Amino acid sequence: MNRIKFISIVGGTIGLVGATAYLLSDRSNLVRADIQQVDDKNENLKPDEREILFLTSLAPSGHNTQPWFVRYLEPYHWIIGNDKSKWLPAVDPNQRETMLSIGAFLQNLEYAAGSFGYACNWKLLATTNQDDLVMEVKLSKTASINNFNITKITSRRTVRSNFLSDLLKQEDITYLIDSEPEFIHYLPNTSKESKFIDEQTSTANRLQSYRDPAQQELANWIRFSSQDADKYRDGLTTAGMEITGIPGWVVRNSYDKDNVMTKDFRERGIDNIQKEVSESAGWILITSQDNSVAALLETGRRMERLFLKVRERNIAIHPMTQILEEPSTRAKLNQSIGIGDNVQFILRTGYLKNYPQPVSLRRPLDRLIRT
Ligand SMILES: Cc1cc2nc3c(=O)[nH]c(=O)nc-3n(C[C@H](O)[C@H](O)[C@H](O)COP(=O)(O)O)c2cc1C
Repeated sequence: MNRIKFISIVGGTIGLVGATAYLLSDRSNLVRADIQQVDDKNENLKPDEREILFLTSLAPSGHNTQPWFVRYLEPYHWIIGNDKSKWLPAVDPNQRETMLSIGAFLQNLEYAAGSFGYACNWKLLATTNQDDLVMEVKLSKTASINNFNITKITSRRTVRSNFLSDLLKQEDITYLIDSEPEFIHYLPNTSKESKFIDEQTSTANRLQSYRDPAQQELANWIRFSSQDADKYRDGLTTAGMEITGIPGWVVRNSYDKDNVMTKDFRERGIDNIQKEVSESAGWILITSQDNSVAALLETGRRMERLFLKVRERNIAIHPMTQILEEPSTRAKLNQSIGIGDNVQFILRTGYLKNYPQPVSLRRPLDRLIRT
């Protein structure tokens, strides 16, 4: 066999093996549109209860842990609970963010129930952020159906990249903030307060990336492969982290928790945050008067009301909570930005040219509902 023929046979074999390996590999990011809702086995639910709870479950949560459950007492009568197994002790040791996420869940529930003609009658049960049972709710039919457009819930998503740096227009600020000006504050990217948050966000991310328990906790909530993403239907997927194309393929097929603990992974994460922070219209801060359970739930609801308004204006929101999670950056915050109330959310904001579809996954309802 001459040399050229040998090389072409070997090359062809490698090509064939390579192509077969590629075809057998995890080839695309699993996204929400890939999931069929038919897998829900909870037959006790009435059809509209199922719809309402599905919409409710699309609420945002830190690391997409979905720290809630629903105790089903009887039709249209439930208790919303706090799922301890989904807490993030390394970054949220007092379950402040857990309660904010449950607040967002309650807001979705109210809007979704309203759109099916039900009013929610609430009874607060929790007195601490650690209580199992948070809020009892009874849905009762009302004559007037609220006209909330539920596609705002199905199309809401966290966006992390490609923010434009144009300032928010006054008409958009008015639309987003004027309903609750005492609790929602826009810091334009030209202000010294916004620059302070940029810098402190980078600092807090560096601190947190090298704090091993926090980094390990992050690793535990990353769903590297599509198989794991489909199995757990929670956490941070490659699509959710906006890792697409070849980098996404590499992560899905060859990364695991150990990679997250390497210096290289930590440094790349920090670089990424620095890039994100350099692109924005500024920041939106959401505050509360105190840190009671009621105030945290209300602040989570406030954040979700805002979050459900931004897409129609082509505005993205990216919660970046590390300043609040790292004690040394948290301690300096209020004084430096001249806000007296408790800051509960730090949201990077900006216009987008192209608004991507939602991709984060949610657990099926039968894993959410306890009887
Ligand atoms: C209390 C809270 C804290 C969050 N903190 C961060 C954060 O620090 N960084 C980040 O990239 N996303 C953060 N998020 C966004 C979540 O990761 C996101 O909501 C979740 O992955 C689900 O994705 P979705 O909002 O697109 O549905 C936070 C969300 C909530 C409710």
